[in-house]
Amino acid sequence: MQDHEALDVGYDIPAQVGMTESEIMTPALVLDLDALERNVAKMGVYAQAHGMRHRVHGKMHKSVDVAKLQMRVGGAVGVCCQKVSEAEAFVRGGIADVLVSNEVRNPRMIDRLARLPVLGARVSVCVDDIANVAELSQAAMRQGTQLDVLVELDCGAGRCGVARPAEAVAIAQAVSDADGLRYAGLQAYQGAMQHVTTYEDRRTAAEAAHAIVRTSVAALTEAGLTPELVTGGGTGSFEFESASQIYTELQCGSYAFMDADYGRVLDEDGARLDQGQWENAFFVLSSVMSTAQSGKAVVDAGLKAMSMESGLPLVFEREALDYVEASDEHGTISDPEDQLSINEKLRLVPGHCDPTCNLHDYYVGVRGGVVECLWPVSARGKVF
Ligand SMILES: Cc1ncc(COP(=O)(O)O)c(C=O)c1O
Repeated sequence: MQDHEALDVGYDIPAQVGMTESEIMTPALVLDLDALERNVAKMGVYAQAHGMRHRVHGKMHKSVDVAKLQMRVGGAVGVCCQKVSEAEAFVRGGIADVLVSNEVRNPRMIDRLARLPVLGARVSVCVDDIANVAELSQAAMRQGTQLDVLVELDCGAGRCGVARPAEAVAIAQAVSDADGLRYAGLQAYQGAMQHVTTYEDRRTAAEAAHAIVRTSVAALTEAGLTPELVTGGGTGSFEFESASQIYTELQCGSYAFMDADYGRVLDEDGARLDQGQWENAFFVLSSVMSTAQSGKAVVDAGLKAMSMESGLPLVFEREALDYVEASDEHGTISDPEDQLSINEKLRLVPGHCDPTCNLHDYYVGVRGGVVECLWPVSARGKVF
């Protein structure tokens, strides 16, 4: 039985299977299933053609159903997520290979992480401090499980991760010596360059990151700790990791949905990412609720329906309309020709997909204008 079939249809869900798109309660997260499947299949073909494993980033969508689609249609080997509570949602949903691509330092969360393999999943986590190795090892021993551990390298983003190869070697050695842990390799994600606008500038930034990774891989190899896995890369950089000859696994997330901020990034041919390589598959469906003032309309999707820290949403395929201002429950659309009418639906492309997904309970999957599925945002609110 799929997740949506188990749902009791009540007042708090945005749609029922078989409804038309115009009948969906708004604001709601809408997935264009055809576009989503094309994006997912395309990345799968790419990864396979380039000999890369693809572990999709589940923090982007927080959905067991989307992850399963990425595994079934896109050949993904499993998911990444950022938090233990997210990992729990994926493992409980049946995803058997989950990487927390982040550090876990809270003792209770370390224990919860170490308990997860009991449910039959391979669970991996990142480390950038040698003290964390003993914490993870003791938790795995307490739970009678094994955790895969990746040493996280800072390859230019200046966030988590060790900066010096010697530190990477020391941690890798400690992991391989520790009971209950398996040294699985290196995590090296350069998040700061993913949205650099031009392809060439991204290539330059990625190559600088890869030089850092290469130095650490060489140091690890010299110490007899050759990483089995070198994992990283996102929607803005996966071509460079694939060409690098050092990465073995990609971690792309946003390619599947696309958002307005990634849409502005340019591909190799100078086309916007959302008009060349990837399609917009993810929308906040909104309804016009006021046309009282001429030259504008007000929709029901504001700050509580969409994240705006990466910019305002775009109005999908309505050139003459611009989303110009947001407040908590309202969005103002500039409508110079007064085209819009009450209850008219607009598909909005949010500025940033990840935090937008976390604002809703369900995805409404639509094909050919009809609701085909209702998928829970399985890890919604799982932020610890
Ligand atoms: C560690 C890690 N890997 C991969 C990704 C996926 O990036 P994107 O959504 O740009 O594909 C992210 C996103 O922030 C990330 O934090």
